[in-house]
Amino acid sequence: MESQITPSQSKFVIAPSILSADFACLGKEVQDVLVAGADWIHFDVMDNHYVPNLTIGPLVCEAIRPYAVKNGKPAVIDVHLMIEPVDRIVPDFAKAGANLISFHPEASPHVNRTLNLIRDQGCQSGLVFNPATPLDHLDHTLDLLDLVLLMSVNPGFGGQSFIPSTLNKIAQVRARLDQYQADTGRHIRLEVDGGIKVDNIEEVARAGADTFVAGSAIFGKDNYSSVIAAMRAELGKSSKA
Ligand code: DX5
Ligand code: ZN
Repeated sequence: MESQITPSQSKFVIAPSILSADFACLGKEVQDVLVAGADWIHFDVMDNHYVPNLTIGPLVCEAIRPYAVKNGKPAVIDVHLMIEPVDRIVPDFAKAGANLISFHPEASPHVNRTLNLIRDQGCQSGLVFNPATPLDHLDHTLDLLDLVLLMSVNPGFGGQSFIPSTLNKIAQVRARLDQYQADTGRHIRLEVDGGIKVDNIEEVARAGADTFVAGSAIFGKDNYSSVIAAMRAELGKSSKA
């Protein structure tokens, strides 16, 4: 896919999770939220095994691909795999038009192999850490990562409350990624997922996140533009801080 994460992309990325969208008209929801100012589409894949819920797969990714367009260009479809095993389905998502594929290290016995597989399939790669998962995997994977995703709720459902201890974890990862960028010149995004709202997004940005997943906060409101604009206004405060 053409749409990759490039350094020229604005510092802050807002990635609405379609988990909270109206599935009866998903293509239109995707189109509407991008027109309303979203940057990426966050695509939550759950298997009723790794997490206790069942959602959507490659068929749905392929179906929304033509609708995920921003300013005439493909918008990033950010696939968050909450499934086990991981490897079998990665090529299917790549073929379905995913741009970025993240998975939970507990769900793959060979994390390095899975990261290479995602990249070999032409996608960017991400590793996801649950609230209680230590960050040790970062010791050995940074060169293979385009994104680190920190869960600020336990995965499985939209509409949960932000877990405050995530802020400290965000700051730890921020320091690590800044050091990595100073050493290598390579930028790795830091995404946070779960319970992000207008009233806490600034604090999350201040802790060091640059990419924000929000499901219920956006799709739960009638006017997507006004929520996204309010989030950007809050993010503007954090850059001036
Ligand atoms: C949770 C999912 C999240 C979730 C976010 O397992 O990974 O992406 O849908 O939803 P909100 O923003 O409602 O917490
Ligand atoms: Zn997610």
